[in-house]
Amino acid sequence: MCGIVGFVSRSTPAVGPLVNGLRRLEYRGYDSAGVALEGTAGIKVYKQTGKVAELDKLLKSALKTEAESGEYAVGIAHTRWATHGLPTRANAHPHVADDGRLALVHNGIIENYAALRAGLEKRSIKFISQTDTEVLAHLIAAFDKGDFLAAVSQALKQVEGTYGIASISARHPGEMIVARKGSPLVIGLGEGETVVASDVSAIVARTRQVVYLKDGDIARITPEGVQIYSLDNAPVSRDVQQVDWDLGAIEKGGFEHFMLKEIHEQPDALRNTIRGRIDRQGATAILAGLNLSPRDLAAIRRLVVIGCGTSLHAGMVGKYLFESLADLPTSPEQAAEFRYSNPIVGPDDWAVALSQSGETADTLAAVRESIRKGALVSGLCNVVGSTIAREAGRGVYLHAGPEISVASTKAFTAQVTAMLLMALKMGRTRRLSHEEGVRIASEIERIPDLVADVIREEDEIARIAAKYAHADDMFFIGRGILYPAALEGALKIKEIAYVHAEGYQAAELKHGPIALLSAQTPVVALLADIPGKEKTVGNVQECRARQAPVVGVATKGDDDAAAQVDDVIFVPRTIPEISPIVSVVALQLFAYHVARLRGCEIDQPRNLAKSVTVE
Ligand code: AGP
Ligand code: GLU
Repeated sequence: MCGIVGFVSRSTPAVGPLVNGLRRLEYRGYDSAGVALEGTAGIKVYKQTGKVAELDKLLKSALKTEAESGEYAVGIAHTRWATHGLPTRANAHPHVADDGRLALVHNGIIENYAALRAGLEKRSIKFISQTDTEVLAHLIAAFDKGDFLAAVSQALKQVEGTYGIASISARHPGEMIVARKGSPLVIGLGEGETVVASDVSAIVARTRQVVYLKDGDIARITPEGVQIYSLDNAPVSRDVQQVDWDLGAIEKGGFEHFMLKEIHEQPDALRNTIRGRIDRQGATAILAGLNLSPRDLAAIRRLVVIGCGTSLHAGMVGKYLFESLADLPTSPEQAAEFRYSNPIVGPDDWAVALSQSGETADTLAAVRESIRKGALVSGLCNVVGSTIAREAGRGVYLHAGPEISVASTKAFTAQVTAMLLMALKMGRTRRLSHEEGVRIASEIERIPDLVADVIREEDEIARIAAKYAHADDMFFIGRGILYPAALEGALKIKEIAYVHAEGYQAAELKHGPIALLSAQTPVVALLADIPGKEKTVGNVQECRARQAPVVGVATKGDDDAAAQVDDVIFVPRTIPEISPIVSVVALQLFAYHVARLRGCEIDQPRNLAKSVTVE
């Protein structure tokens, strides 16, 4: 999910374009970086944890003279967003094989890396990293009988998962092989040089003539240009396009804000969260990172789900998931409250800490308190190797890719999806039948498409947002599993549109807060078709009886619910366990468009930080 840069020229030194290209990718967030340079004496690799500046320092100390750096006219570079293996120098890319003659960088996830690695180890191949990527480097080397592109093709045919790769080899000087499936790659055509990158922002400094590879493409890159093929070696032609975006727009993928980009990324992000984690045969989930046997899972008596902000809201959804699918009593806990409450938690409890950043101070402290009290602890984080992930020692990574905008969006839907997988797994060690497991698993696999359906309603959501963008106060109401979704919708509009908004249990409004309602207080009612929806419709009527305008988020085709509200946002029909995901995506877009119409900053809202590492 992070960054690749490749450079091939006849005589222009590669180091500068590679490092400058990586700098253009820094905004995506990463944990380590490296380059591999091809010279007359073979391939040299330089890798460093931390920022690109650290790598640059290493290169400057290693290549002291122009002559030294001028020796390398071909190179590949990488910023890593770790998925398999901690963010260490050994796990940083490029990875090498063939006694250092071949170097490879990779974006994506190789699902079947363990089986491939076992096969290579049987052939006495030695590994030095924990990553999935290193497996591919050795596989390519094993297939190299003289044709570099053919070797890469044959290796990729063995791979399950996603990749964007660039590879160079001392056996094949002056050329680079690249390929993509699920992770983007774009090629820049320069004068006597060719640039490759995972994002056009790393190319436009050299050229604006680009070729976008498509999934299944593999290509040979030389200073003269690119030849593209299918994995079966059939020539493929791709149009050359002119890039006319400015750099700011490019970094946001053409979206006006990172938040909107990350909302739209959710189908792909959720595909990565789910990837390789459904066991259709057993109608359960595969979550190796939990490192818990069915016996361990079956022995757990209570679940404590800990988090802050959006992560707490996701944890509150978790209560409904684990209680409905696994009959497991579950208590969501706000991390700061939990850590100072001398919590009643111990060996019979499973404490799951939710944190996108994996660095939130209160959540980290709650993890440490749970460990001190003997609980079983897991992390549900997006950043591999983050402090919470490391100290929890086991857990599930979200694989949602870097989340740049302060307002958390794809992390929420990824956390709920990951907990749904965990609840399915836990449930199948208890009373959840195989048949029920099949039903839940197949609906989980629909989540990316369900979210894409909601995103397609964006224009209608923006139109509705315009009607209510002037409001200074709003209520978001929901019942049952949709109550945490109401809290999340209220949080979004507070933090990016600076509108005072309250998330409330729908049934609770009449016990006081309804006194606040007037024609100036819009109510957003979550009416997705779950048990008890009719009761929420009743609460909506109570609101409208006080002249409050109501925006309903209802299941597509539910005309009865639509008839009860002033404006309706339709979301696709799904099982109750997934209704918070589709409903919150609608609320993310609603909040975004209200904020945009109010002229708010959106990506860096006032007073907020992306990761709250202080108490
Ligand atoms: C959510 O939009 C906010 N940015 C904030 O509430 C955030 O969810 C909270 O600080 C927790 O962060 P974490 O998931 O990185 O632990
Ligand atoms: N799965 C690879 C790793 O963990 C690539 C990660 C990335 O896309 O940066 O090293």
